[in-house]
Amino acid sequence: MEGKSSAYYLSMASWCDKEGYSTSADFLYRHSEEERQHMLRIFGYINDAGGHALQPVIDEIPYDFKNLREIFELILEHEISVTQSINDLVDHCFGIRDFATFHFLQWFVAEQREEETLARRALELFDIIGEDGVGLWTIDQEIGKLESFAQKPGPAGDTGDVPPA
Ligand SMILES: [Fe+2]
Ligand SMILES: [Fe+2]
Repeated sequence: MEGKSSAYYLSMASWCDKEGYSTSADFLYRHSEEERQHMLRIFGYINDAGGHALQPVIDEIPYDFKNLREIFELILEHEISVTQSINDLVDHCFGIRDFATFHFLQWFVAEQREEETLARRALELFDIIGEDGVGLWTIDQEIGKLESFAQKPGPAGDTGDVPPA
């Protein structure tokens, strides 16, 4: 799913690029790269544990989108499905008492919270600013500022990373 996220966001980035939403395009190109890093994190964990991580088959990635808003609606929908998938893994690991993997997955639990927040904030921009006139141009600009918002540290000590054991 992390690999699929990377391909999905790359496709979205390209669409934004050709439509002239350059800030959203930059944001999505970076996001696509981050998702690839998430996938590699899992590859490393599996191989270090004696398994064999397999390059996933990724298909059915859409190339065309209705408008900028639809892109962020699809991101939120997709991130919610990734969260559910991570939650299933966490639940499974707990059930079989694989506490090492349970611990490894906590980073992803925190990451998903951040990603969903980011997508929700992006969608709010469409309601707050409105899409008429220079609205879409302004929304595109504001999307560039969202990353710093999502990475803002939470309560003291909450860096989004797994705490030292
Ligand atoms: Fe991810
Ligand atoms: Fe994500």
